[in-house]
Amino acid sequence: MKKLNRGVAIVGAGMSKFGAFPGRATRDLFVDAFTEMQGSVDKGVDVNDIEAIFIGNYSSDLFEGQGHTAPFMTDAVGLTPRPATRCEDACASSSAALRSGIMAIASGMYDMVLVGGIEKMTDLPTSEVTDTLATASDALYDVPAGYTFPGFYASIATAYMDKYGATPESWMSVGIKNHNSGSLNPKAQFGQRIIDIMADKKKGAEKKGKPIPTWADEMEFMHDPRANLIIAWPMRLFDCSPVSDGAATLLLVSEDIAKNFSDNAMYILGSGQASDVTLRYRSDLTTLSSAKAAAQQAYEQAGVTPQDIKVAEVHDCFTVAEVVATEDLGFFKAGQGFEAAEEGITSLRGPRPINSSGGLKSKGHPVGASGAGQVVEVWKQMRGEAGERQLEGDIDIGLTHNVGGTGESCFVHIFGRK
Ligand code: COA
Repeated sequence: MKKLNRGVAIVGAGMSKFGAFPGRATRDLFVDAFTEMQGSVDKGVDVNDIEAIFIGNYSSDLFEGQGHTAPFMTDAVGLTPRPATRCEDACASSSAALRSGIMAIASGMYDMVLVGGIEKMTDLPTSEVTDTLATASDALYDVPAGYTFPGFYASIATAYMDKYGATPESWMSVGIKNHNSGSLNPKAQFGQRIIDIMADKKKGAEKKGKPIPTWADEMEFMHDPRANLIIAWPMRLFDCSPVSDGAATLLLVSEDIAKNFSDNAMYILGSGQASDVTLRYRSDLTTLSSAKAAAQQAYEQAGVTPQDIKVAEVHDCFTVAEVVATEDLGFFKAGQGFEAAEEGITSLRGPRPINSSGGLKSKGHPVGASGAGQVVEVWKQMRGEAGERQLEGDIDIGLTHNVGGTGESCFVHIFGRK
């Protein structure tokens, strides 16, 4: 792997709350993220020094009837007439924007670049969201065959269960874990642990004078098909990331000027990207070869190993995806990731915490913003600003893993201090 021609640092990061915001325009969420980013720059920044903008957005055209997203977001934060480019790689769109920003600075073309991500999905009913997301799969063959994203990941889950002996409870343990972490994240769509959701449902039944469900614990709740609907077996409601609105932004500068903005900047150590054929052509559904290839590139460029990573935000669009990611990234051997989740190894206070933000499952998955949102969590953890979910120890190296589709595209980024 070639090194970057010159170093790139992140000196500011911010995100809107993720969730459903029916009364708010997409650009309002972008302004929220931008304003928080601006306030996060330790020594302050004149945003008029931003030279170019790269925005990740999957499909505002279909979600909102609004194409050409980048200049509209750029206008919303008063940055026209600077060059503004939209980047699209399905659910990895804002990682594509990040990589574009990195390359723009590393090439020497710009010294300061704004990277963002944005998606507003909740204006459509779920059935139309499902159809819109399905356009990220093979429209010639997969869509007419009836495949949806829950269906794709259900195929991955059943193949994994068959090969390695995981069970539906394995996936449930990931959902419980990520809701636990998300409950400590004020920006998360679901600010509740599953046990709290269960308690609320009981209270709701009591209030309405209906029979009070007798679930003894969260696992019993998760097994109840009325509480935890089967979406595409074995993926149930609490295995799925939600339909979300949200935005995130990052401020990138060249390494030589980073100290003008912060003595605690986060540097890009490695950037990997790879692609793959659609799922039906793959000989093994239990791994994403694009994730492995992107990770290998990023580790090599950064000169670190999986053991060096202290904070990792991985693409858990469905619970099974988190388990597969932890194996593809080399945190666990193939077939051992599900046991690690079941045993609490990947929980917030476990030895290998994964998705301290709550992940896409609990924090939310506004698809075009998710990759940049992952970087915001790494930024907060590395600076010791993650509040109640702050990881223990010196968080000096972090990683994000962001998948487009079922791995037809994948990005892995590694961040560190200098
Ligand atoms: N996890 C947990 N709870 C969820 C949820 C999720 N993913 N999605 C919705 N809910 C909750 C809602 O908060 C609501 O709770 P309430 O009754 O207590 O108020 C309830 O479930 C019904 O919400 P609703 O919006 O009507 O759900 P839905 O049935 O329309 O949608 C899914 C549920 C799982 C189908 C939808 O979230 C989905 O499609 N997720 C996957 C998105 C996706 O594919 N992303 C891209 C990945 S590659």
